[in-house]
Amino acid sequence: MTPFEWNFPTKLTYGPGRVSEIGQIAAQYGKKAMIATYAKGSSLDPVVDKVETSLRAAGLDVVIFTGIEPNPRAQTIDQATELFVAEQCDLVIALGGGSVIDGSKYIAATAFSGGKSWDYVVLGERTPREYTGAFPIISIPSISAAGSECNAGGVIQNAETNEKSFSRSPYRIPKVAIVDPEILQSVPMHLTKESCIDIFSHLVEHYLSSHAESEFADRMTEGMILCLMDNFEKIINNLEDLEVRGQLALCSIFGWSGIQALGRLGCIPMHSVEMPLSAYYDLPHARGMVVVIPAYLEHMADAIPHRFAKLARRCFGVTETDDLVAANLLHVRVREWFKRMDAFLTLSDVGIGEDKFEQMAEDVVRMFPGSAPESTAGPRPITKDEIVRIYQLCK
Ligand SMILES: [Fe+2]
Repeated sequence: MTPFEWNFPTKLTYGPGRVSEIGQIAAQYGKKAMIATYAKGSSLDPVVDKVETSLRAAGLDVVIFTGIEPNPRAQTIDQATELFVAEQCDLVIALGGGSVIDGSKYIAATAFSGGKSWDYVVLGERTPREYTGAFPIISIPSISAAGSECNAGGVIQNAETNEKSFSRSPYRIPKVAIVDPEILQSVPMHLTKESCIDIFSHLVEHYLSSHAESEFADRMTEGMILCLMDNFEKIINNLEDLEVRGQLALCSIFGWSGIQALGRLGCIPMHSVEMPLSAYYDLPHARGMVVVIPAYLEHMADAIPHRFAKLARRCFGVTETDDLVAANLLHVRVREWFKRMDAFLTLSDVGIGEDKFEQMAEDVVRMFPGSAPESTAGPRPITKDEIVRIYQLCK
């Protein structure tokens, strides 16, 4: 195990109908709340009304910022930040999926610390600006996928440069997450499937990128993968099953909370390879992960075969004793699983051709440089040519 620090400071408030408690909860953090959410006209509109009513009933003033995009743009987040400052808000209520919650984290911390949201992201060799604090955030997830509702991470994109990047800050961890499965019930079939696969991507990212060994983290991860697989199958048979929605919500939260990687926190190569797809083509992140995962697993199996083999044996029924053979079966089994769930997608399925492969690979190694030249961090340094190869395997 590598040394680590970990805590889980978010108060998790779970249960059907509990979104109506937002007023009482928010009153503990201030008198004026900004609700940050997607553009009007979605199935969330009635929930926004419910949240506003509860806040006003508890005596809070409310400012609503709509229009956060599914890939949140730094420029939009900066507008929201200006509004937050001008209105002298005290807290942000992030009502939406990972994009809204990520965006809200940048609003809360940039409003407190100054500058622009993009100043704080990881970008090549530059040293990102550091926050000095953040206004409190309460998250109300409308989908189980990103795990953003209880963690420090956040991804935004720069619409002017077609770059997408991330940062982490403990200041931005939500104080409270209200996880109400009645809100999650209305997520449509294709988004439910893609979100389950995004959760899977978080569970396997560190499992397959670190050379450190931590049996505790492995068993936590494997347990959550098995729980996810089970409930993935159940939810596509009944999208409105509250119990199953609740189980998936926990997979989302704890699958990207750090507990899945205690003692072997690594890097995030699969996510790095996906980011340009979202940045150039506005592909929703979870759909991008559906496309990238099997290809990444296929190309990287020989980089760290004993760990790929362990996952293949423990979660995908592989019995081969040779590590390299078992490792090479992981992508086969994962592809079969995606297809069984009717969730498999290629780049051509999402309308993306090969014309930007070189450019996107170049962006990955420039924005997220690894220790070797012209590479990004992974279980071994991943070169630009290898990233192009991974994109080719996604076709
Ligand atoms: Fe993700």
